[in-house]
Amino acid sequence: MRHLMSPLDFSVDEIESMMDLAVKIKNDPEKYAHVCDGKKIATLFYEPSTRTRLSFETAMLNLGGKVIGFSSAASSSATKGESVADTIRVVGTFADIAAIRHPKEGAPLVASRVSPIPVINAGDGGHQHPTQTLTDLFTIRSLKGSIRDLTIGLCGDLKFGRTVHSLITALIRYPNIRFVLISPEELRLPSYIREDVLDRNHIEYREVTRLEEAIPDLDVLYMTRVQKERFFNEEDYVRMKDFYILDSEKMQLAKDDMYVLHPLPRVNEIAVEIDDDPRAAYFRQVRYGMFIREALIMTLLEVKGC
Ligand code: NCD
Repeated sequence: MRHLMSPLDFSVDEIESMMDLAVKIKNDPEKYAHVCDGKKIATLFYEPSTRTRLSFETAMLNLGGKVIGFSSAASSSATKGESVADTIRVVGTFADIAAIRHPKEGAPLVASRVSPIPVINAGDGGHQHPTQTLTDLFTIRSLKGSIRDLTIGLCGDLKFGRTVHSLITALIRYPNIRFVLISPEELRLPSYIREDVLDRNHIEYREVTRLEEAIPDLDVLYMTRVQKERFFNEEDYVRMKDFYILDSEKMQLAKDDMYVLHPLPRVNEIAVEIDDDPRAAYFRQVRYGMFIREALIMTLLEVKGC
C-alpha cells in the first residue's frame, strides 16, 4: 500500500504516468465516471481549505466514488483529544482512502504509519503540500509542453509557504531548471530547502528582493500569499503582506509566454486587472488540480482498466 507524503514518494516516471492519465481523464471524463464506484474518500481537514478539500471531493465524485469527512478540527474528535493515529484507524474502517490536512508538520506521516488505507498529505503546517505540487507540475507541463529548460520565479512568502517547499523539492529532478527566489529578507527560503535541496544538488538559483528585476527572465512566475496564520505577531504580517503586488505594469516587463501560477487563495499579491491576461493561469491551474487528483486517487487505489 502506498501513501503520498512528499512529492518524492513517486518517481519522475510515475508522476509522468499520472499526468498522462490526468490528460486522458480530462479529454474523456465519461470513460472514468464509474471507475471508483463503491469507493469512499475521507477528507480529514484540521485546517481551513476551500479548493484542496473540494478538489479531492469532486475528484472522487467524478470517478463515481463517495465522500465523507470533516472540514475543521472543531467539528472532529480532535477537540476531545483524539490523536490523528487513532482517527485514521477509525476512519480506515469506513473509507478506502484519506486526505489529511493538519497544522502540525508530520501529522499525516504519523497517521500513514498506522493507517489501514492509503493516506494523502493535503498540507502539513509550513512543511509540504504534495498534491498542490502535482497540480503545479501538471499545469507547467500542460502550458509549456514539458518540464525542462525553464527559469522559474517563486515570489512572496518563501519561508512559510509549503507549496513552494514542495514544488522546489519536486522540480530539481527535471532537466535544466533554474530558480529565482523573490522575497523580502525576512521571508527567504528556509535553509533546509536552500542548503539541503538546492545547494546539495548544485541547482542554479539566485535570491532577489525586487520582482521587477527578476520578471523579464522568467518562464513561470509562481506567486504566493504571505501566510498570515504562521506569523507569530500581527505587526510583522501587516508590514509584509503587501510587499509584492503583480499588476499590469509589471506584466509588461515579462515574456509573452511567461505564465503566472498561484496555488490560491490570492489576497493582494495579484491585482485583479491581471486576471484577463492570457498569461494568468491560476484559475486554469485549479482545473488541472482536479484532474491530477483523480489520477492520484486511481493510482493509490490501484484502479485498473484504463
Ligand atoms: C495553499 C496551501 O494551503 O498551502 N493553498 C492551497 O492548497 N491551494 C496555499 C495557501 O494557503 O496560501
